[in-house]
Amino acid sequence: MCGIFAYQGKKTDVANLIFYGLKSLEYRGYDSWGILIKKNNHHFYLKRQTGKITDEKLKTIVATEGFGHTRWATHGGVLEKNTHPHFDCQKQIFVVHNGIIENFTQLKQNLIKKGHKLYSETDTEVLPHLAEELGKKINDRLKIIKEIIKKIKGLNAIIFYFFKNGEFYAFKNSSPIVVGKNYDGVFLASDAAALAPYTNKVYFLDDGEIIVIKNKNLSLFDKNGKPKKISFIDLNYKAQDTFLGQYKHFMIKEISEQPKVLTTIAETQEQNLKKAAKLIKNSYGSYLIGCGSAYYACLVGTYFFSKIAKRHINAAVASEFSYLVDFLKETSLVIPLSQSGETIDIISSVKKAKEKKAKVLAITNVLGSTLYREAHEKLLLLAGPEKCVLATKSFTAKLAFLYLLAHILNGSFKKGKENLKKAIKEVKKIINEADKIKKLASLLKNKKHIFILGRGVSYPVALESALKIKESSYIHAEGFAGGELKHGVIALIEKQTPVIIYNPSDETYEDTLSSAYEVSARGAYVIGIASKNNPVYNQFFSIEDCDDATTIPNVVFAQILGYYLTLARGFDPDKPRNLAKSVTVK
Ligand code: AGP
Repeated sequence: MCGIFAYQGKKTDVANLIFYGLKSLEYRGYDSWGILIKKNNHHFYLKRQTGKITDEKLKTIVATEGFGHTRWATHGGVLEKNTHPHFDCQKQIFVVHNGIIENFTQLKQNLIKKGHKLYSETDTEVLPHLAEELGKKINDRLKIIKEIIKKIKGLNAIIFYFFKNGEFYAFKNSSPIVVGKNYDGVFLASDAAALAPYTNKVYFLDDGEIIVIKNKNLSLFDKNGKPKKISFIDLNYKAQDTFLGQYKHFMIKEISEQPKVLTTIAETQEQNLKKAAKLIKNSYGSYLIGCGSAYYACLVGTYFFSKIAKRHINAAVASEFSYLVDFLKETSLVIPLSQSGETIDIISSVKKAKEKKAKVLAITNVLGSTLYREAHEKLLLLAGPEKCVLATKSFTAKLAFLYLLAHILNGSFKKGKENLKKAIKEVKKIINEADKIKKLASLLKNKKHIFILGRGVSYPVALESALKIKESSYIHAEGFAGGELKHGVIALIEKQTPVIIYNPSDETYEDTLSSAYEVSARGAYVIGIASKNNPVYNQFFSIEDCDDATTIPNVVFAQILGYYLTLARGFDPDKPRNLAKSVTVK
């Protein structure tokens, strides 16, 4: 999704600040970028280009205010003319935007009828021209912005820059805008991680609020246009959390951070989890919802709750849940899982659930995110900034929370914590076996299909493993329930078809071994992930059993395999094509 970064302050290398701000937002996914710098009251520097962010010339510009944008195309192709910032006829009003103006066609037609010249295919371009047109009747820029908010439909984050006055006006609904402040200036960004190198004091704009930056000062107005005090929060981000350090990619850095993250959860979250368990006990019907990897974590949760806590809990894909909310009651509890806390499918489902008076307990990784603020109760994953588009440490952190929650509900937290610690040891072991997994990746890198099979709690692990492989190596990978093999999938097994089989020594062991023999009999290349080796495996990776916490090291195996498959195929694991770190448009 698009990235936004703006600064006004005493520093005179604003171009550099914006350059690095946009670079830190690259992980959100983009296909073009642009930057506007105010050089003096008569001149500005405007650069817009497709492709990756480059810094030629930017370093030489001496200036103290400007903004930039990385574009993930929604309306209009990847063309320079569609790149932000967009501007009005007089080139006095500039706009960057994340989201979709749903009624832009009508607005554009009206503007063209009034003589405005619009050159792009985007929805965004109507915004500066709207401000220009309104400015013919209204000279109060705050009033102009309020009028525009009333006129546009859709979920957006928008920053206007009035060049002559040197003023920024920003507002949002659903897509995030974070305000930052330090001793030498003020910042706006589309996520807090971009501000980590400059400040930990941030404010997450609420829907309908307007923030104004003028003469290096911030003024906040609530959704009724009334001045409002800015209550900054302290983020626990450390700047080095957001940089690569000695790692080649964020993906392998974040995979390697998992033992530390999981240990923190095991050692510090008992009280928070007890509060969450109470909410579940007091609810009549609990629903885990998530998208992509977060949904697979929900599915793992249903097995944990059934096997450990002997409790039923539902799981639903968040984008579908908003069509399922009619049965919710005041006694219902919706538990959205979301690393970014900005996924629009989650936010819209949560808002609908709240309309049904259901209680919302969010489990998210970003303090102050939209989901964090929408929820009645929240648990922070404590995984630290996750910059790689692929979810790794945030996924296993979710499993750890759900696993311990199930044990708390069962009154066996101590046992759960012990098993989690054993799983952390296995995670360290599998990370240390990365070279062996790398060799497997070079063996599989030209395969057209990879199948991953699991039963019971290993079934959603197989689904997540398939996602880790396909979303950055672009090999088709399919996870499926072992019992489904004979109901169709086995038709696809040919000689040397790779089949990864999760086979922990739990209640599924014997049946899963039979599945291994069935695919082997048809020529498959069987990769066994288990505590016990078996002649049916062509390759074997040993992961000791840690009760159902084995799910965690098992998925780390797939994370590492996905990483090396991606490298072996010459792709960048941190920036997979067409994907974005948080999906803030439907
Ligand atoms: C995971 O590797 C993917 N990047 C994707 O499925 C992700 O988990 C999904 O988009 C949900 O994101 P969220 O956790 O930020 O809501």
